[in-house]
Amino acid sequence: METKVIRITSAPLSEQLVLPGQIIASGGLVVFPTETVYGLGGNALNPASSKKIYAAKGRPSDNPLIVHVARPEDAEELAFTVPSFYELAQAFMPGPLTVILKKKDIVPSETSGGLDTVAIRCPANPVAHALIECAGVPIAAPSANLSGKPSPTSAQDVLEDMSGRVDCIIDGGPSDIGLESTIVSLAGDVPVLLRPGGITYDALLCVLPGLEIAHAVTHEIGIHEKALSPGMKYRHYAPSKPLILLKGPEEKILSFLKQKQLSEKCAILCYSEELSQLNGERLYDIGRGSDLETQAHRLFSSIRMADRSDAAVIYAHLPILDGLGLALYNRLIRAAAHTVIEL
Ligand code: TXA
Ligand code: MG
Repeated sequence: METKVIRITSAPLSEQLVLPGQIIASGGLVVFPTETVYGLGGNALNPASSKKIYAAKGRPSDNPLIVHVARPEDAEELAFTVPSFYELAQAFMPGPLTVILKKKDIVPSETSGGLDTVAIRCPANPVAHALIECAGVPIAAPSANLSGKPSPTSAQDVLEDMSGRVDCIIDGGPSDIGLESTIVSLAGDVPVLLRPGGITYDALLCVLPGLEIAHAVTHEIGIHEKALSPGMKYRHYAPSKPLILLKGPEEKILSFLKQKQLSEKCAILCYSEELSQLNGERLYDIGRGSDLETQAHRLFSSIRMADRSDAAVIYAHLPILDGLGLALYNRLIRAAAHTVIEL
């Protein structure tokens, strides 16, 4: 399949997105930018489109897709909304938040991965918003990476994974946040945080005081444990080389890394303040230790770069669990298959 690439210019979006909108409406696939990561979109109401999405990603079809809508109230057509959905929408939509609700019959089981619930997200990125309007249908979109690889945060990452697999790729520049949306389930008796992201747990607590954090956000899922979100089961964000996380005082981590640079071919996702102390080979600056926004922005592209290098192993810091740190921790601990060295 030939993949058309459209670079967004300053012309009106409603003009630039006519073709991609038509592609989605007629059952094709379009990769589009959002404020979190790039999405691989198809018509959420068309079972054949959802099947194509799974095929293009090489993703198991029991892992449901997020349905993107232009306005929170558009969820009414797709799901049984509850008052707390509108409280969350008021505070955080449009934005990097996905909410799980009981689904209505109009959502095909191909889109919901066979579940009786559906994930709803209203993206803030103007290109994503305009594309949903142009398509005239809700857009089902997982992250636009091949299954198991880190989510793409630039059109270059998307081309690496999706060239020849989709009808069109819209290049809207680098993703603002760089980590996927926060996911909250309102489908059970108590609200549960299933995936941390740009909207932090503390911010959510202001709206949902009873919000729980799913065990799998920070821990490995036991073989007998039922995953609350099918995506929790799969190894994610994983580089092809082993990734090892380091925990402990900064001086000990630095001396460990210096020693490793002498003894093995390693790549390091380091803090900006460490740059001058380490050998510059295969060194990827993910931002200052205290700057979690920059770290989120650079994490996936740094993992991709480290993975492309000739390193045998990749080292990174184990993030803190506060604020945006929880989302960084969740992505890194899974990419590292829970391998942590305590120094
Ligand atoms: O930021 C994002 O959320 C991006 C952009 C493109 O919107 N999308 C994204 O989609 O990250 P994806 O498919 O890569 O991750 C969605 C996660 C999966 O782990 C899936 O299992 C979970 O959401 N999910 C989707 N529907 C669900 C449902 N009904 N119940 C529980 N988990 C669900
Ligand atoms: Mg994904």
